[in-house]
Amino acid sequence: MNSLLFLFLLLLAFPCYFSTQTYRAAVLEFSPYQFQPGDNYQLLLRNLAEMEKYISEAKKQGAQIIVLPEYGLEGWYEEWDRDNILPILEPLPNYYAGKTCNPCLEKCKDKNGNNIDFKKLPVLKEASCIAMKYSIIIAIDGINDVQYCENQTDCPPDGRFQFNTLVVLDEQGFLVAKYHKGHNYESESNYFDQPKTPEIVYFDSSFGVRFGMFICFDILWNQPTYSLVYELGISNILFPTYWGNLAPAFSANEFQVGFSKSNKVNFLASNIGYDGFYSSGSGIFSNGLPLAFYTNDTIYPSNRLLIADVPIIIEEKPSIISFDSNFLEFDDLSIPSFKKFQAIPGTSGSLFLSVSGVDCQVNYSISQNQSESFEIEEYALFAYSGLGFFPIQISFCGLTRCVPDPNQQFDCDVYQTVHSNTFFDSFEIESNLQNSQLSFAMANEDGLQIINDEYLNIGNGTISNKDGKVFKLLSSVFLQVFQE
Ligand SMILES: *[C@@H]1O[C@H](CO)[C@@H](O)[C@H](O)[C@H]1NC(C)=O
Ligand SMILES: *[C@@H]1O[C@H](CO)[C@@H](O)[C@H](O)[C@H]1NC(C)=O
Ligand SMILES: *[C@@H]1O[C@H](CO)[C@@H](O)[C@H](O)[C@H]1NC(C)=O
Ligand SMILES: *[C@@H]1O[C@H](CO)[C@@H](O)[C@H](O)[C@H]1NC(C)=O
Ligand SMILES: *[C@@H]1O[C@H](CO)[C@@H](O)[C@H](O)[C@H]1NC(C)=O
Repeated sequence: MNSLLFLFLLLLAFPCYFSTQTYRAAVLEFSPYQFQPGDNYQLLLRNLAEMEKYISEAKKQGAQIIVLPEYGLEGWYEEWDRDNILPILEPLPNYYAGKTCNPCLEKCKDKNGNNIDFKKLPVLKEASCIAMKYSIIIAIDGINDVQYCENQTDCPPDGRFQFNTLVVLDEQGFLVAKYHKGHNYESESNYFDQPKTPEIVYFDSSFGVRFGMFICFDILWNQPTYSLVYELGISNILFPTYWGNLAPAFSANEFQVGFSKSNKVNFLASNIGYDGFYSSGSGIFSNGLPLAFYTNDTIYPSNRLLIADVPIIIEEKPSIISFDSNFLEFDDLSIPSFKKFQAIPGTSGSLFLSVSGVDCQVNYSISQNQSESFEIEEYALFAYSGLGFFPIQISFCGLTRCVPDPNQQFDCDVYQTVHSNTFFDSFEIESNLQNSQLSFAMANEDGLQIINDEYLNIGNGTISNKDGKVFKLLSSVFLQVFQE
C-alpha cells in the first residue's frame, strides 16, 4: 500500500492515537474598564474589544485555547444588587452538550424548539464571532446568565435566577459549555444565585483534551472539584478568578499551583489584575509545575498574556486522596497565632506552636551571605484553625515575613507585604495537617514569586526546600480546608 495512503487511513482509524503530546494554552490577566451605574452591555463589548487584541496575539502564537478572567467583562462594583446588574445579564441559551448552538451564526434553539432572539444576547454573539474569527477556544466569564422562572419552584421573588457564568465557545463559535459558579463569595449573594448543587461541567476539545471548569471561590470546596477530578478523571481545569491576595502568605498563584499539585492536574488560571498585587496572579500549571505564571507586585493595574505548551496527562488517576471531613477540634480563633523571630545571618532555629488543633513546627536557617543592601528583617511562625478567613474551616501552619500591621489587626501585616530581602539556606514546615484534595502546599519569595516545585519537597502536611538553592523567602505555608 502507498505509505501516504496508509498513514491517511491510520489517521482516520485512530484519531486519538496521533493526538499531539502537548496542547498550547493561553491565559490572560486583564484589567477591565469598571462598571458604573447606568452601564449596559456596551461596557462588556468595550472590554471584550480590548481582550480581542490579546486573543489575536494568542492565536498568532499558536494557542488553541484561551481563558479570560472572572469579572473581566464587567469589572467590579461594590453596590451591585439584583436589579442594577440586570442590564448586563443575558438570557443564555440552555446548554445542550454538543454542537447545537452557534450564537455568531444566530443558529440556536431554546428548549421549546423556537429560534433564540439574539438581540438579547449581544455579548454572547460577539464572543462567539471572535472565537470563530481566530479559530480558538474561548473560555469567558462575565456573560452572566439570567433565567426567568416565574412559575418554577425555588424561583426567587423577583422571578429570575441570576448566575455568575462561565461559557466556552469553540473554534467554530459553538457554545460548548455553560457553568454557573457554585459558591458565591460574600457580597456576590446580593446579586447572584447559586445552583442548588454545584454543576459538573466539562467539554471535549477538537484536540482530544477534556476540560472541566470552576470559578474562583469554588476552588476551596469539595464540589464540583471532587466530581470533576476524582469521579470523571478530568485532568485539565479552566479557572477564571478574581482572587483577592492576602499577601505575603496567600497569593493567587500559590493556591493555583497548590491545587495543581495536590490533584495532579493541568490548571489554567486567569485572574483579573486591576488593583495590582491585591488581586494579581495568573498562570498555567501542570502537576504543580509552573509552565508560565505572573504576579504584578505593584499596586498598579496591568494586562499580561501567558502562553505555554501543556503536556497531556495520560496516566491513570492515583487512588483518591479524599477531602477530609474530620474537622480538627478547634476554637474559632479570629486571627492566627504568631511566634516572631529576627532573621539574623548565619543563625538557625526551631520553633513550635500548637493552636486550635494544629501542631506547627518550623525549622529554618538564615544564609550567612546576604546581599549588600541587607537589613535584618523579622519573620514569624504562624498557625491557625477556624472560620475567620472564609465561612469554611481552614487550618494552616507556616513561616512568613512579618512586617508590623498598620491596622494592628494582626501581629504581622498579612495583606500587603510583598517583598523580602533575607536569603534562607533552608526552611521546613511540619504539621499534623495532611495531604488531601483540598490541601495547598505553598511557598513564595520576594515579589510574590512562587517557588518552583522542583526546588521543594512536599509531603504529608510538610513542605521544605531542597538543598542547594537559596531563596529570599517571603512565606511558606501548608494549608488544609476541611469540609463535611
Ligand atoms: C406563569 O403562570 C401564570 C398563571 O398560570 C401564566 O399566566 C404565566 O404566563 C406563567 N408565566 C410563565 C413565564 O410561564
Ligand atoms: C505592574 O503593572 C505596572 C502598571 O501596568 C507596570 O508598569 C509594571 O511593570 C508591572 N510590574 C510587573 C512586575 O509586571
Ligand atoms: C526540626 O527541629 C526539631 C528540633 O531540633 C527536630 O526534632 C525536627 O526533626 C526538625 N524537623 C525537621 C523536618 O528536620
Ligand atoms: C554571596 O552573595 C553574592 C551575591 O549577593 C554572590 O555573588 C556570592 O557568590 C555569594 N557568595 C557565596 C560564598 O555564596
Ligand atoms: C498523613 O498524616 C496523617 C496525620 O497527620 C495520617 O493520619 C495519615 O495517615 C497520613 N497519610 C499518609 C498517606 O501518610
